[in-house]
Amino acid sequence: MLVNHDGASLFYEVFGSGDPILLVHGFPLSSQLWTETAEALSATHRVIVTDLRGHGRSDASPETSMTQYAGDLAAVLDAADEQRPVVLAGLSMGGYIAMEFVRHDPLRVRALVLADTRHDADSPAKVQEREALAQRVLKEGPKVVADGMVGKLFGPEASENLKSEWRSIMAATSPQGVAAALRAMGARPDSTDTLRNWKRPCLIIVGDTDAITPPDVARQMHDLVPGSQLAVIPGAGHMTPVEQPEAFAGFVEKFLKTLPELPA
Ligand code: MLT
Repeated sequence: MLVNHDGASLFYEVFGSGDPILLVHGFPLSSQLWTETAEALSATHRVIVTDLRGHGRSDASPETSMTQYAGDLAAVLDAADEQRPVVLAGLSMGGYIAMEFVRHDPLRVRALVLADTRHDADSPAKVQEREALAQRVLKEGPKVVADGMVGKLFGPEASENLKSEWRSIMAATSPQGVAAALRAMGARPDSTDTLRNWKRPCLIIVGDTDAITPPDVARQMHDLVPGSQLAVIPGAGHMTPVEQPEAFAGFVEKFLKTLPELPA
């Protein structure tokens, strides 16, 4: 299904019925990240997945921001006719967007799942690195990012097939979408206070060999969010839902069972 928002047509899909959960993928990925998770969770929940602006089947815009991505998520929820507070789950850049979303619309979020992500902003050197990469992608295409990232995304146990499937998905991402996302990540604010002030349930997940957002960062986030839960998934790098899909879905299912019931 498609919804138009802020100049872009955005792709989303809905599976199952029950209390809602919205899954937000990372950079430069697509909602395919959630295939196995959506299949498992949709047995008991209404699962909504979307391709972020400039990724997968959603249109790109020349520039974007965490605020615009968060607004896109709200538009997807409206299009899916979902007005109940959702469990909002984001992986990596999806986590940055989830933290932005709760700054804008906290009442729309019942609980957070932050997977393989981080709360701090980029250093000035990282911002420069992202800008240089954005310029290369606009000149040479998204293959430079796909080739550069694939080795870092996966843990040592990931199969060559899985890596090559994701190299192709990343290489098919719009150059404009990739460049805009790099710049938006570089401009994102620090989310330390957002996490400190989050008073609802929160599950933090990380792969034990995640080289991009390592377990130490997940532990810092766990210390920041009062009462949060931490799940470290063995045998996974940064791509936990596709590297260890059963373990990932299992931790989320267990967490969902602990949530206070939604008012009828
Ligand atoms: C992601 O997986 O979404 C990105 O690698 C995150 C980042 O570059 O900060």
